[in-house]
Amino acid sequence: MEAPAPAPHSPAETPLPGVTAEFTVTSPEQMQELGRRLAKLLRAGDLVMLNGELGAGKTTLTRGLGEGLGVRGAVTSPTFVIARVHPSLGGGPPLVHADAYRLSGGLDEMEDLDLDVSLPDSVVVVEWGEGKVEELADDRLHVIIHRAVGDTTDEVRHVTLRGLGHRWAAVDLAVLSA
Ligand SMILES: Nc1ncnc2c1ncn2[C@@H]1O[C@H](COP(=O)(O)OP(=O)(O)OP(=O)(O)O)[C@@H](O)[C@H]1O
Ligand SMILES: [Mg+2]
Repeated sequence: MEAPAPAPHSPAETPLPGVTAEFTVTSPEQMQELGRRLAKLLRAGDLVMLNGELGAGKTTLTRGLGEGLGVRGAVTSPTFVIARVHPSLGGGPPLVHADAYRLSGGLDEMEDLDLDVSLPDSVVVVEWGEGKVEELADDRLHVIIHRAVGDTTDEVRHVTLRGLGHRWAAVDLAVLSA
């Protein structure tokens, strides 16, 4: 008798509870537009964690967030800088854009960035922050970007937004596609 087939590979992360919304994005421009729209829902104190493989579009989405928030300076992929503060050009909160890719440790290593100090007055967006910055806030917006498998163009991305905690409980993420 044959051994049973192995269970399909499941990601290490357990499903998080919370409000979710899913979008299909077909170009970098659309990803940026999603960021611009998402920015309208964000306020000081929000922690946004971006999850997705290299080149998924995390920085592209953040560029749109920066535009939507009306902050100064182009959002780029930092090569040496781990976190960059983009002050608001208006009266809104600054955008703190962190990329934890090169950080191997946990929150200890992130401590130098003082994200906990920035968070109450800023929108903090972290790429590659899984397992590193969750302790900053119980209320978090997770954005998971997947490259489409088997899609005809390589510009298709599936984006899942998952809001955790009271902050996001009553937020209708579906407005982002309207
Ligand atoms: N639908 C899409 N959304 C976002 N980016 C796309 C899309 N289709 C193609 N791209 C391209 O994929 C690349 C995404 O790069 P980006 O720097 O945003 O990714 P990243 O997730 O931040 O990567 P890294 O993990 O290296 O920081 C860009 O070159 C962009 O033009
Ligand atoms: Mg990036």
